[in-house]
Amino acid sequence: MNAPHADALVLFGITGDLAYKKIFPSVHAMARRGELAVPVVGVAREGWDRERLLARARESIAEHGGGVDERAFGALAERLRYAPGDYTDPAVYDRLREALGEARRPVHYLAIPPSLFPVVVEGLGRSGCARGARVVLEKPFGRDLASARSLNRTLHSVFDEDSIFRIDHYLGKETVQNILYFRFGNSFLEPIWNRNYVERVEVTLAERFGVAGRGKFYEEAGAIRDVVQNHLLQVVALLAMEPPVGPDMEAFRDEKVRVLKSIRPPAANEVVRGQYAGYRAERGVAPDSRVETFAALRMHLDSWRWQDVPFFVRAGKRLAVTATEVLVTLKRPPQRRFSGREFDSGAPNHFRFRMGPNMEIALGATVLAAGGRGASENVELFACRDPGRQVEPYDLLLGAAMAGDHLLFARQDEVEAAWRIVEPLLEHSSPVAEYAPESWGPAATDALIEPRARWHDPKG
Ligand code: BG6
Repeated sequence: MNAPHADALVLFGITGDLAYKKIFPSVHAMARRGELAVPVVGVAREGWDRERLLARARESIAEHGGGVDERAFGALAERLRYAPGDYTDPAVYDRLREALGEARRPVHYLAIPPSLFPVVVEGLGRSGCARGARVVLEKPFGRDLASARSLNRTLHSVFDEDSIFRIDHYLGKETVQNILYFRFGNSFLEPIWNRNYVERVEVTLAERFGVAGRGKFYEEAGAIRDVVQNHLLQVVALLAMEPPVGPDMEAFRDEKVRVLKSIRPPAANEVVRGQYAGYRAERGVAPDSRVETFAALRMHLDSWRWQDVPFFVRAGKRLAVTATEVLVTLKRPPQRRFSGREFDSGAPNHFRFRMGPNMEIALGATVLAAGGRGASENVELFACRDPGRQVEPYDLLLGAAMAGDHLLFARQDEVEAAWRIVEPLLEHSSPVAEYAPESWGPAATDALIEPRARWHDPKG
């Protein structure tokens, strides 16, 4: 990777929610590490002055960035410029050019609603602000395969693929990247990581909170577009991919695409959609909404490694706990007795990867139970990491985009392959069942995995 480092950071939508919750804290963290050496230009419609923007930045860092470090904040304030204006008005791009000064390789981060992506991308192109620049955008990349392709055409009319960085913040989570380290950094796993030993794989993204003021957004998205098409399928790809061959970064993304292409789109009886009781009373939600706040899928991968191993994926709001967790269950050992003793302790071996809120990796094993009677029991051999030591995903991804490193960003063919899997499930094709808040979703979810097993419900 020999890409030159960016020499300016442009934040479109600097007065918005994403900037408030994630981007200011990340830029502040960069400044705290002494890594913020470039001008930061905020762009937004609001006619604020710099003082008001700085006050907003301070508030954001205090609330979401673990507190203001005055030295780092001073460094950020010194570099922060503001270019206000309507994105459809050419004058805003003139202001931006002026604010960019001598910078020749800016990164433009589009923290704006997807409907504005084309306007801004075209504005950047017309004004010359795209020359030598990179562009960073957030999922959702389109709302189906056709719109994802159309967005891509717009992007490519101005930027080449090397200059486009598509953020799926799950890829920036250390706990998610750790799946790769655990899989490919150890030699004990590979011999068993396949259909000969693995019984099934479960991925759960559970959230105890509801749509939290984002009712309007959720009405347009639903759980499948919001987190399944992107975050959860990325996790599945990392769990199921082949080891990349060669040092080339694209080899890694090639293998992820191959997994996504191997996934059969789930049939109607392999999907459960649910909506929590009370969702329809949320602000911005239609009183007769049929949008899902919960989805569970059974998926099959047509590949040599995974044939006949079901992958169960589940995501929902207002569930019993907030936790993101993977459970890989192994087949039972062939012999359950030895020396005249029963060896069956109930649960087969498993690997458990907890990816949020904290990080844990556990191996579920059978051991001799204490007490001298020869009974066995299940235990977990366990490793965990203090969440305080993890770098925030946005911090890491922003730094990577500025350094021109694509490894942790989604490539267009990945995005399209993921839409191909979920597209048949969109547009409310299956019924949506109501579920009680703080439950594990609609009762029908159990039927996806039974009778051979029951869902693994992560602990809170
Ligand atoms: C976002 C979704 O992409 O991911 C949210 O839009 C969801 O609805 C969030 O809550 C989950 O991310 P995390 O990092 O909190 O697990």
